[in-house]
Amino acid sequence: MGKQLDTLLKEARTFEPPPAFKRRAHVKSKAAYRDAQRRLDYWAKHARTLEWYKPWKKVLDWKPPHAKWFVGGKLNASVNCLDRHVATATRNKAALLWEGEPGDRRVFTYWELHREVNRFASALKSLGVKRGDRVAIYLPMIPEAAIAMLACARIGAPHSVVFGGFSSEALRDRINDAQAKALITADIGYRRGQRVQLKKNVDGALEKTPSIEHVIVVQRDGKPAPETRMKAGRDHWYHDVMADAATYCKPAIMDAEDTLYILYTSGTTGKPKGIVHTTGGYMTQAVATTKLVFDLKDDDVYWCMADVGWVTGHTYVVYGPLALGATVVMYEGAPDWPEKNRTWDIVERYGVTVFYTAPTAIRAFMKWGAEYPKGHDLSTLRLLGTVGEPINPEAWMWYHRYIGNKRCPIVDTWWQTETGGIMLTPLPGVTKTKPGSATVPFPGVEADLVDSDGQSVKVGGGFLVLTSPWPGMLRTIYGDDQRFKDQYWSRYPGVYFTGDGAKRDKDGYFWVLGRVDDVLNVAGHRIGTMEVESALVAHPAVAEAAVVGRPHDVKGEVVVAFAILRAGHDPSDALLAELKEHVVRKIGAIARPADVFFTADLPKTRSGKIMRRLLRDIATGRALGDVTTLADPSVVASLKQRYEETEE
Ligand code: PRX
Repeated sequence: MGKQLDTLLKEARTFEPPPAFKRRAHVKSKAAYRDAQRRLDYWAKHARTLEWYKPWKKVLDWKPPHAKWFVGGKLNASVNCLDRHVATATRNKAALLWEGEPGDRRVFTYWELHREVNRFASALKSLGVKRGDRVAIYLPMIPEAAIAMLACARIGAPHSVVFGGFSSEALRDRINDAQAKALITADIGYRRGQRVQLKKNVDGALEKTPSIEHVIVVQRDGKPAPETRMKAGRDHWYHDVMADAATYCKPAIMDAEDTLYILYTSGTTGKPKGIVHTTGGYMTQAVATTKLVFDLKDDDVYWCMADVGWVTGHTYVVYGPLALGATVVMYEGAPDWPEKNRTWDIVERYGVTVFYTAPTAIRAFMKWGAEYPKGHDLSTLRLLGTVGEPINPEAWMWYHRYIGNKRCPIVDTWWQTETGGIMLTPLPGVTKTKPGSATVPFPGVEADLVDSDGQSVKVGGGFLVLTSPWPGMLRTIYGDDQRFKDQYWSRYPGVYFTGDGAKRDKDGYFWVLGRVDDVLNVAGHRIGTMEVESALVAHPAVAEAAVVGRPHDVKGEVVVAFAILRAGHDPSDALLAELKEHVVRKIGAIARPADVFFTADLPKTRSGKIMRRLLRDIATGRALGDVTTLADPSVVASLKQRYEETEE
């Protein structure tokens, strides 16, 4: 068990929300909430806004915990994102406005994007990638990332996007778990002026990935990065395979329940989970939420800052907005590179109207100072969004004031990789907002708060659960249905356990507080404590390790590790630095511990379980909680004392 609910509740801030601000009416009325009372009809109404080859016979087939949505329906996600727009005047509209970190720019109209996706789909087919084959994508935020995803969707090959910041080993494990047949990557990418060596990481990963037959490599700069090595027969340049590829590729007619993609996320064990999303239900939730939460219109320029390596980048950079025919801004690099006004430069340059980012970014903007946004014309903005972690009211107010100029509604959206799309959110212009609260369930979604016995808590704190199936829900964990059942459905039978603690106020508003399992949220990214622990114990100097989160003013939380060294190894600054690097090598920079604390002992229960709760108390400088269940209570007191000494 991770953070105890009572700790979360104790830490949760209480404050008076300011009166609801004047809002431009977006969604015209409360009709959405009223319509959603007929839940299945409501979702079916949204599903009908997609283009189907064959209608479904039944909206929902629910055999807990297995759901099938739009049973018997046939469709293709890439057709919904491209072909149907190409058949209208949207053909000439900008689909992607892309900017690279060094400042290079590319624009794709819907017609051009359709062309590229078709050609790449044809190219994949010519290489022998077939319907049902898994394709790994390890790319920077360049247009080819969206093209590759949509090309896979076109031929019915589930994609597994691996965040470009993950290490070689993390990539290897994900490829092997999904048994991917092909991998799409780039020679390099750019991040804070650095050249990220993607192909080099790929070469490391592919030493032990027997399933991979082909690697397709995009030249990030239109010429090969000099350090790139290509393996004959296996590696192909993207532009070469595109050169003579057919400009039309017949889309695969997919069943609503066929897998659209797998996306790995961290859980409570050392092994990431391959979350499986299917086509019909996922696309339905993507369009319904994008339409109602962001209310995209013809003239909108929409920018979601998420990387395609995360689920937000799947649903709200690619599938949702493109299915609606919106203009999407895509940016490759860091928000503060080369200057701290880069983000606002982009908003001004493209006249962004809807902006979706994470609290960690907002807190960073706050820290850099209001002079950066103030120096820019942000008058085109009309709606702001946030996702990824609880937003502290100060950050909410700053966002409202300096970015939204006190006139843009803010939608705080709570959801997860597993949910596929937004689950708790205000509807702009309809739902009264309260800074720090993701407000109420999206129409058609049913959520509750329960105590440890599963009894509903009307007002107060509890565990957040989802009480009925929703179309975008994960269908299983790839290759491990038992883990799917155990993880999400065993705690309260028939009810989905989110792993989050929350409060509900007297207006019925939800205030999500954070994870109650052994999962950290570092800068909006999920990291399993066990994952970092297994990385640490794989180092020859480490006998045992325990990892906890420590609050951080920008990142929300950072990783703190406690390590017991093996005989013959002594604590040193060099070893400390090496262990941090070791975790980066094993997982990626996002998991780098802020601190590694060497210890001779760890607090354990009599049955040998490490009590992370106490380590968290130590790392955060809190008074120690109950120590009576410890095998040796003296361990924790001396550990605390030594930790505090080292911290000073
Ligand atoms: O703890 C919740 C937090 O992020 C977790 C989901 O992480 P991930 O699957 O990586 O997806 C992130 C983007 C959808 C949740 O269990 N979380 C996400 N959004 C919010 C949030 N916590 C509070 N408020 C939010 N708006």
